[in-house]
Amino acid sequence: MTAKPARSVNDAATGTGSGGNCPRHVAIIMDGNGRWAQRRGLPRIAGHRKGIEAAREVVKAAGALGIEVLTLYAFSSENWSRPASEIADLMNLLRRFIRKELEALAGEGIRIRVIGNYQAFESDVVELIDRAIARTADNRKATLVVALNYGSQFEITEAVRKIAADVQRGALSPDDITDQTVEAQLSTHGLPPLDLLIRTSGEKRLSNFLLWQAAYAELLFTDTLWPDFDADSLKQAIEEFAQRDRRYGGL
Ligand code: IPE
Ligand code: IPE
Ligand code: MG
Repeated sequence: MTAKPARSVNDAATGTGSGGNCPRHVAIIMDGNGRWAQRRGLPRIAGHRKGIEAAREVVKAAGALGIEVLTLYAFSSENWSRPASEIADLMNLLRRFIRKELEALAGEGIRIRVIGNYQAFESDVVELIDRAIARTADNRKATLVVALNYGSQFEITEAVRKIAADVQRGALSPDDITDQTVEAQLSTHGLPPLDLLIRTSGEKRLSNFLLWQAAYAELLFTDTLWPDFDADSLKQAIEEFAQRDRRYGGL
């Protein structure tokens, strides 16, 4: 496998031109909303509210930096273990976000894609998500992938199930199963390879996010809590990425 050729950072928004390599695909584990609120003596939902504002700013900044795909971890398959009231708050924020921002995102040329089993959400939320996907399907400027009820192990398990079924009905020989066969069954199929994976809030784990896709991603952990992450934080992350030496097992 050969590394992708370097692309220069499209720094039109800042006019600085760092001259480094711009990642095509950046994913973020947006963590630390609860602690942000707690530190201010506020309810956790205040952190989630501020976190959504941060997400909106970062989506804009990613487009301006020339990042093709931004994948945001918004709700994990493990987040169901939170209190029902917090899950309800998160769902209400999601409803509000789509209603408030869909037209603006569509106008910015952003295509919205969702990974994860969002069909398990309440039916009106599913409808809103489907509407957001359909409304932006023809957009080509940048792609925003939102991970909703996403779990990487489940995603891989489902891929294995599909491949096993293909083998069972005689459509595929086990000898012909390659990395590409698996990749083709993942929900991220067709997206450029993941270049940079960022996690905020100081935790250093992947929490069941993009385990396969992160095989050769650069990992960046920052202590910044997600609600404090902004356009400048993203730019700094991209600058650090540009300094990394990606060897892909070579020299
Ligand atoms: C991330 O912030 C948002 C979601 C998981 C939905 P948290 O809610 O996990 O915030 P902390 O980790 O408790 O601070
Ligand atoms: C990961 O954060 C999931 C999202 C950011 C949506 P968590 O806060 O749920 O992760 P853990 O539980 O600390 O691993
Ligand atoms: Mg957390």
